Parts: sequence; structure tokens; C-alpha cells
Amino acid sequence: MRTQVAIIGGGPSGLLLSQLLHIRGIDSVVLERKTKDYVLSRIRAGVLEQGLVRLMEEAGCADRMKQEGFEHDGTLLSFGEEMFRIDFRALTGTPVMVYGQTEVTRDLYAAREAAGGEIVYEVDDVVIHDATTDAPHVTFTQAGKAKRLDCDFIAGCDGFHGVSRKSIPQDKRREFEKVYPFGWLGILSETPPLHHELIYANSDRGFALCSMRNAQLSRYYIQCPLSDQPDDWSDQAFWDELKRRLPRAEAEKLVTGPSIEKSIAPLRSFVTEPMRWGRLFLCGDAAHIVPPTGAKGLNTAASDVHYLWTALVEHYAEGSGTGIDTYSEKALARVWKAERFSWWFSSLMHHFPDQTAFDRKMQMAELDFLRTNRAAQVAMAENYVGLPY
Ligand code: APR
Ligand code: PHB
Repeated sequence: MRTQVAIIGGGPSGLLLSQLLHIRGIDSVVLERKTKDYVLSRIRAGVLEQGLVRLMEEAGCADRMKQEGFEHDGTLLSFGEEMFRIDFRALTGTPVMVYGQTEVTRDLYAAREAAGGEIVYEVDDVVIHDATTDAPHVTFTQAGKAKRLDCDFIAGCDGFHGVSRKSIPQDKRREFEKVYPFGWLGILSETPPLHHELIYANSDRGFALCSMRNAQLSRYYIQCPLSDQPDDWSDQAFWDELKRRLPRAEAEKLVTGPSIEKSIAPLRSFVTEPMRWGRLFLCGDAAHIVPPTGAKGLNTAASDVHYLWTALVEHYAEGSGTGIDTYSEKALARVWKAERFSWWFSSLMHHFPDQTAFDRKMQMAELDFLRTNRAAQVAMAENYVGLPY
């Protein structure tokens, strides 16, 4: 097999890149370890920055998002009984789009299939060869058969546990990591959302988030110890704890019901540098992870895809290597700012096991500053709606 760009990983990064390349007449093959149904069963955050909305439009995949997604002009933050709003539209001129990552992925699969794009599922033993030469290739097995894919470039879009990052020799990369001492217990329930915008809550008992997928489908999270298992939490225990973490007036309005999904996710900040090794380029979770506070995971993957896509278009259409040579630097400059925002927002909103009374006062003072200071609100809003790229 031969293609121009071999894409390892059929998550949102790999699919978006493949579709955007296709729009510009560049050929790719996506190699995915799992089945499509498996990829679509993963539940992830659902807040899209304008940059990703624009990329979905350029990819020709924005119709359903525009019909079924919800534009949010702001978000609510609570601490104790206080609650205030950050008005994204008034502060930045820009809303965010609430539309689940699973739906983004579904729309991208549909577009790749409609265009006859090649996605090879259930591949195993993916190995990257000759990434530092002009003729790289990828070998893999599928249904027990050994296969080879020759290409000009390789995009490593295979998530945090993929092979791409690990293919870069250890002495050629540096990793930065912070692991947070708690997780998020999340549930999905067929109940109307508590509020028409998201509520991020800081309480003495820990963080909580009230989010949504649509008018009849809510997504809620509470911070929990990493040692907890989802089965330790009955639905009733979850709802009771969520209510305790919200201002009373909000807790009273909460409509509860049976959960249709319940899981615990750890929180981690992680970056690997550089994001390029010869003709191998890392994109999305393969190169970096953020804690979910602020929903930057998918959005940061999207900015990588943008830089890589434009670099490859420059290479094929104009014969210029500038985009390729500056990919890692440009992508990382933005990645680190998303890392900073996610770390700041996580630090502000969670209860840390070793937190002192002083640390707690600092969180309260910072939240009150944010409540009352326009400059602080602008900085928060600009980061939340997404820094430009
Ligand atoms: N070979 C082929 N495919 C692989 C391999 C491998 N060795 N390892 C992993 N994959 C596949 C996974 O099965 C998955 O479908 O790569 C895909 C990676 O997808 P994601 O983990 O979703 O990562 P990415 O596409 O970068 O999406 C960005 O944004 O909200 C965040 O973490 C969230 O998934 C999200 C991410
Ligand atoms: C979600 O809806 O799953 C979600 C929303 C916002 C976040 C994190 C997760 O910051």
C-alpha cells in the first residue's frame, strides 16, 4: 500500500486531519487499533472552541453540529453559596459550541466514508520505520496478515497510549508531567440539564461540574479520590454529593434520574517535546494531555491538526518546507498555553488533599477577584473560548 500521509489513530485528531487533507486533494490512510463502534463508545468532553468549529466547517462536517449543538455565551462559576457568570460573548465577542466529542467523531467518520477515505480498523503491531529518511513506512498486522504502508509523512494521532511518541528515541525527546491527586467521577443521565450553561463549582467538599449533551441528556462530574471505583457510588450517593457541592438554590432545581454511564477519569497534565521527529509528526493526545477542567483536550488536538494540515498543504501545493520545519514550535507554543489554563483552572477549583487553610483562602480570594474584576474575566474568557491559531 502507498499513500501520501499515513495517519496512525482514528480518533478525532486522525479523522479530522484525514478529512482536511482530502479537501485539499492530499491522500491519506488511517490505521486504527479498535473498531469504529469502540471508538464511538468513548465519552469525552463536549465544548468546542471557535477554531475547531471553523475546522469542522472547512472539513465539510459542520451541518449536524450547527443544527444540534448549542452555542453558549458564557459559563457559571460557584464557590460556596456565591455564583457568578463569565460572559464570553460580551468579553471576547465569541461563544463556545457545546457538542459532544463522540458526535464530532461520528460526523468525521461519516465524511471519510462518504468520500471513500481509507480507514483500516483493528490493526495491531504498528511499527514506524525510517522516520528520519525521505521514504518512511509503517508496518502492521491486520487479521493476522503482515502489511506495509509506504508514505511521504506519518501523523502520530494515536493518543496517549499509542506507539508514535514512543517511536521517537528517548534521547531525542523530553517529557513534562503533573499528576493530580484526585479523579473525576462522571455520569450521564437522561434528565434535563440543571442550567442552560455549564456550572463549575468549588466547594469545601471538592469540585463539581454540571454539563450537558442536549436538552434531555446531562453530564455531571464530582471530584473523587483516585482509590474510588465507579461501583462504590450508587446513583443516589452521586446525586446527594453533587447537591452538597452546589449553591443551595441550584441544588434544589437539580432533576435526578438513573445514570446511563458512570466512570472515573484521572487528571493529568503531560507534554512531550518536540512534536516532530524527521517525517513523523505527533498530534493531539499522542503529544499532550490536559486535565478536563476547561475542556481543552480535543481543542488542543484541533490546533495541532490545523498546524500540521497547513504545513502539509504548503509542502504539496507550494513546495515549501517552512510549515513542516516550524510545526513543533508553533504547536507547542499554543499547547503550553492550554496546559497553563487547564492547570490554573484545575488548581483554582479543586480540593487538594494537602491543601492548607491558607491555600483555601487563596482560592476564595482568586474566585472573588474573578467575580469582580473585568481584566481577570477577560483573561479567563479568552482562554476558555480558545486562543487564536
Ligand atoms: N495503532 C493504531 N491506532 C492506535 C494505536 C496504535 N498502536 N494506539 C492507539 N490508537 C488509536 C486509539 O484506539 C484511538 O482511537 O488512536 C486513537 C487516538 O484517539 P484519542 O485517544 O481520542 O486521541 P486524539 O484523536 O488525539 O483526540 C484528542 O481530546 O478530549 C480529548 O483525550 C480526549 O480523545 C480526546 C482527545
Ligand atoms: C463535559 O461536558 O463532559 C465537559 C464539559 C466541560 C469541561 C469538561 C467536561 O470542562
